[in-house]
Amino acid sequence: MCGIIARVGADDGVDRLLGGLERLEYRGYDSAGIAVENGAGLAVQKCSGQVNELKESVHDSQIYGGIGIGHTRWSTHGPPTDDNAHPHTDSTGEVAVVHNGVIDNHTELREELEAEGYEFTSDTDTEVIPHLFERHLEDHPPEAAFREAVRDLDGSYAIAAMVEGVDAVFAARRGSPLVLGVSDDEYFLASDVPAFLEHTDEVVYFEDDEVGVIQPDEVELSTLDGQSIERSSEIVSWDPEETGKGGYDHFMRKEIENQHVSLANSIQGRVGDREPDLDEFPPGSFEDIDSVQIVACGTSFHAAKYGAQLLNKAGVPAQTFRASEYDDSVPVDDGTLAIAVTQSGETADTLAALDRASAAGARTTAVTNVVGSTVAREADDALFIRAGPEIGVAATKTFSSQVVTLSVLAHRISADVAGTAPWDDPAAFYDALERLPDHVESVLDTEVAADVADDYLGSDAFFFIGRGLAYPVAIEGALKFKEITYEHAEGFAAGELKHGPLALVTPQTPVFTVVTGDEDDSTVINAEEAQTRGAPIVAVSTDDHAITDVADAHLPIPETHPDLAGLLANVQLQLLSYHTADRLGRAIDKPRNLAKSVTVE
Ligand code: F6R
Repeated sequence: MCGIIARVGADDGVDRLLGGLERLEYRGYDSAGIAVENGAGLAVQKCSGQVNELKESVHDSQIYGGIGIGHTRWSTHGPPTDDNAHPHTDSTGEVAVVHNGVIDNHTELREELEAEGYEFTSDTDTEVIPHLFERHLEDHPPEAAFREAVRDLDGSYAIAAMVEGVDAVFAARRGSPLVLGVSDDEYFLASDVPAFLEHTDEVVYFEDDEVGVIQPDEVELSTLDGQSIERSSEIVSWDPEETGKGGYDHFMRKEIENQHVSLANSIQGRVGDREPDLDEFPPGSFEDIDSVQIVACGTSFHAAKYGAQLLNKAGVPAQTFRASEYDDSVPVDDGTLAIAVTQSGETADTLAALDRASAAGARTTAVTNVVGSTVAREADDALFIRAGPEIGVAATKTFSSQVVTLSVLAHRISADVAGTAPWDDPAAFYDALERLPDHVESVLDTEVAADVADDYLGSDAFFFIGRGLAYPVAIEGALKFKEITYEHAEGFAAGELKHGPLALVTPQTPVFTVVTGDEDDSTVINAEEAQTRGAPIVAVSTDDHAITDVADAHLPIPETHPDLAGLLANVQLQLLSYHTADRLGRAIDKPRNLAKSVTVE
């Protein structure tokens, strides 16, 4: 977790560091800090709270400098206090370090360093790094000392470090993302590209066990052992405007509203004559596969369930696993295709599951949004969902892009494995897929979600039900709702309601009932069972579905293919969550206790 940034240039870079931290806040936002070198020593400013608070204290202290590092934190070791905020310094104040990841051997290292007289001032695992750096500086020049310090560490890290009086930032990576931004007169280093995208789109991705020394006029990349590495830069295709709010109050609102654009990008050029046309996977790519396992977390897990159901419909054995539950007991062989679905490409649980699958002999594929992410590099192949940067912590447009990308991939796999498609009439699906962006726009135009949010504000709990392909939408609806409103919300398979959850149902628990048009009348009956116990029913359906005769309120969606109706229902549920959270004054883009990229297991 956490976001790191560094900037190396001749003129003052404090605003660039702070701007970068604001763009990284989706990675953590419980404390923040910067350190800069200005020829008169290292100046460190840090505090608990969000980057806004840091900005005020930086403004008051008027620190400046061309070379600097910064950090925004999501606490793992030690609560979010001023002392635990990064950068951390050594005993002399001559070394400053920011770190994303977890140092597994920090307890042993701390004991060793404390025994030698080094004084610690925080509870963090990170603080061992500046002290190790300080210790090695006694015998080595800065670059060699940095390498030695990094060699002492076990665990995961992306590190940026500075030494007083040295015009350089030292960087290292293992298991946590780190990317260099290159422009004519300055360099950046960050956990993710949006941190500096407004200044440059030219990037170089660090690999594991690589070290960088970034100076104002050159960058040297090498292995941890000191062997020099030549790597060309690449240009990222994201538009800097995509990393701003674009006039919306929240990133989440913008990202919901822009789904017609991200969906169009996701499918662009990937559908031939009503069949998959994936450059990454030409026909026959999956001929050696006989079963599929999809691993993912959170919202990505819900998209994974959608993909697995399509594969099953086509007769391909497919299972989904919450990545944190995928262990060695799961049978895997060389006919298994393991697909990791992760928008960030950095989720530790998902990476660990993919690792396990690969070690057991599975072929691996990543479905991700982030080019250059760890999953894209570690999997045998990668398919990008092309949703553009998503900054709001709650996943919205990446869910819909994952679903459509998985739909096309599921067809490619089933055609190769079983000579089938997930649909009796693939043309009907692809026609609807082409119209999906327009249909999303028409859902956005309905503008009813805000009123429904008002009607049920103050309820005791919020339940979401669906069956078949509406089930992943129901559990996604509940996750989104609890994540940003902090209200109690649960998603259930509609038929399961009567096996326990009905005990929770009261007139104070609206039941949002998602129907796609593909199910029999059972879901309507399930809704009626809840209504009989007093629960208000909100139908999420087309206008003429039988559920609307039963429902107390309606979130309408246009007529489409039943396998895409859930995506339209999901847009209504995203808006419902958004408006409810807005009415409750929640921190919509940065909900409490969460971070977008969860890089710890
Ligand atoms: C929900 C949400 C999280 C993520 C989960 C996996 O809105 O954002 O549940 O979906 O942490 O993240 P990725 O997709 O990056 O692996």
